Amino acid sequence: MHLGCRRVRREVVVALIVLVGLWHFRDVIWSDPTEFERLERWMNHGAIRSDAHENFTESSFDWSSIRHSYRPGSLTALPKPLPDDAIPPVQHCFDEETTDETMVRVARLTEVRQLFQANWASYRRFAWGKDALMPVSGGAKDQFSGWAATLVDALDTLWIMGLRDEFDEAVAEVARIDFGRSTSTRVNMFETNIRYLGGLMAAYDLSGRGVLLRKAVELGNMIYAGFNTENGMPVDFIDFEAAKRGDMLQVEERVVSASPGTLSLELAHLSQLTGDDKYYDAASRVMDVFNKGQNSTELPGAWPMWVSMKHQNVTTGGAFTLGGSQDSLYEYLPKMHQLLQGGDAKYETMTKTFLETADKYFLFRPMLPSGQDILLPGNVNVIDGGAELDPETEHLACFVGGMFGLAGKLFDAPEDVERGAKLTSGCVFAYRAFPTGLMPERLDTAPCASRSRCPWNEVLWMQERDARAEWQQHLPLGFTTAKDPRYILRPEAIESVFYMWRLTGRVEFQEDAWDMFRAVANGTRTEHANAAVLDVTREANPLPMEDYMEVSDALVYPWRDPWSPIAGPCESP
Ligand SMILES: *[C@@H]1O[C@H](CO)[C@@H](O)[C@H](O)[C@H]1NC(C)=O
Ligand SMILES: *[C@@H]1O[C@H](CO)[C@@H](O)[C@H](O)[C@H]1NC(C)=O
Ligand SMILES: *[C@@H]1O[C@H](CO)[C@@H](O)[C@H](O)[C@H]1NC(C)=O
Repeated sequence: MHLGCRRVRREVVVALIVLVGLWHFRDVIWSDPTEFERLERWMNHGAIRSDAHENFTESSFDWSSIRHSYRPGSLTALPKPLPDDAIPPVQHCFDEETTDETMVRVARLTEVRQLFQANWASYRRFAWGKDALMPVSGGAKDQFSGWAATLVDALDTLWIMGLRDEFDEAVAEVARIDFGRSTSTRVNMFETNIRYLGGLMAAYDLSGRGVLLRKAVELGNMIYAGFNTENGMPVDFIDFEAAKRGDMLQVEERVVSASPGTLSLELAHLSQLTGDDKYYDAASRVMDVFNKGQNSTELPGAWPMWVSMKHQNVTTGGAFTLGGSQDSLYEYLPKMHQLLQGGDAKYETMTKTFLETADKYFLFRPMLPSGQDILLPGNVNVIDGGAELDPETEHLACFVGGMFGLAGKLFDAPEDVERGAKLTSGCVFAYRAFPTGLMPERLDTAPCASRSRCPWNEVLWMQERDARAEWQQHLPLGFTTAKDPRYILRPEAIESVFYMWRLTGRVEFQEDAWDMFRAVANGTRTEHANAAVLDVTREANPLPMEDYMEVSDALVYPWRDPWSPIAGPCESP
């Protein structure tokens, strides 16, 4: 059972960029009291501009004017970060590049940038100001309230790729977004937070453009209005008109856990940028509920797919996944530790407790003819108190490799970094195994009982696959289904590859990423852009496509100018 897989996704990238932006600017954030003063100046004298392109237009509704029904006794303040050396740098210390390596890297960067530019040109031509470009027809559509989701999501990419004219033009468009209007009557909190608020702050972190922070504050106040409820818990969907009237909103009976569980990074960072604790306070209330319930669920250490913010109940239900509906709840835990610089110990505890459960119940070694020593994430169902592995791997769950790797570095657990590497290689394997070089959205393999010994047994594999109605003859050996054979431009797997490359410095990950990029660029290409493909398990030219393009930005890790060799803080040599 997977719900909301489309909705739960791009967050990894946003978090990555927010985090890295923060890492980049941590000295400024913590030592420069003028950050907030600067913002106040902009607020008070709307006309102040930090550069000529910005012509800020206030939204038609001021979300900070909402009076909340729920009033916390006192606000939970942002915690003080631990001393600098308490959080280890996570990046591998790379040797100097050779000339040959530089040439290869720059050639690849150029190819990635060219593809991005072609896509951007199409968005600009056919869909400017709309949420998404339709990559086959050259149409446009609004799917996330009509605030130019693609444009906001792409800001940091434009900056990182050094496309400054395009960036300036996009910022001028952002300056005109009206967060007082929405193309849908119900505004999705989760999507709005990860795409828009994350996108605006990431771009602000990189560029320092005041307009971006001002729009982030306008929007942050709307998201904050989503906490105007009886118990101070967030709604899943904001009833836009009721919220504007200041009505108390009704918290839904039950929601997928990733939805309330994926507000923390953005709201915490907004408090960091503005000096106003109210955003952090709101997110903390939610994370306290998750923290309290963590050991009382049917699978202690993990939370169920469905939770109730209305009843502040996150312990009931036997369905567990690392994929859609839950993914980013887990992903944000170690990143919160990193963002707060260890300032709140619960994120370390929650991360470690979860990783132990994940390792024990969700991860498995698939039985493969090549005998390759890799891991894949599955789902778990608890039935009558017993945990059963369902060896179904979803593309969305491919973020776990990077998560294990990052947490392993943060908490000095080399075995978790190793697990991260094997999980990442698991998803890379799933890309390579199919003739298109693309991983299906959902697939199944046969798990081995042991991770150390996993000999190929063709008879056993045939039994497993024959037990599945969906099995198809053409699937490669080792796979028992490709339940959802689409590839819908998801970034999680290549993102984990990127993490593992930066964390370990192993060249194989650089090569993996290049193969994946090439396969994606080629297999999804349309006249105007790149589109979701409907079946990656069979070769065809062109592949069958859908007129749909996931709103998500490219993956670059801006320690510094990406055109220069890798640099930035690294582990002690
Ligand atoms: C949950 O259990 C772990 C040990 O497995 C412990 O470290 C942690 O503090 C517990 N969490 C809570 C909220 O009690
Ligand atoms: C949590 O909610 C479920 C229904 O979704 C209910 O059965 C259970 O008793 C609740 N638990 C607590 C502690 O409130
Ligand atoms: C590009 O994709 C098409 C369609 O799947 C395929 O036939 C072709 O072999 C691919 N080319 C390369 C270089 O991968």
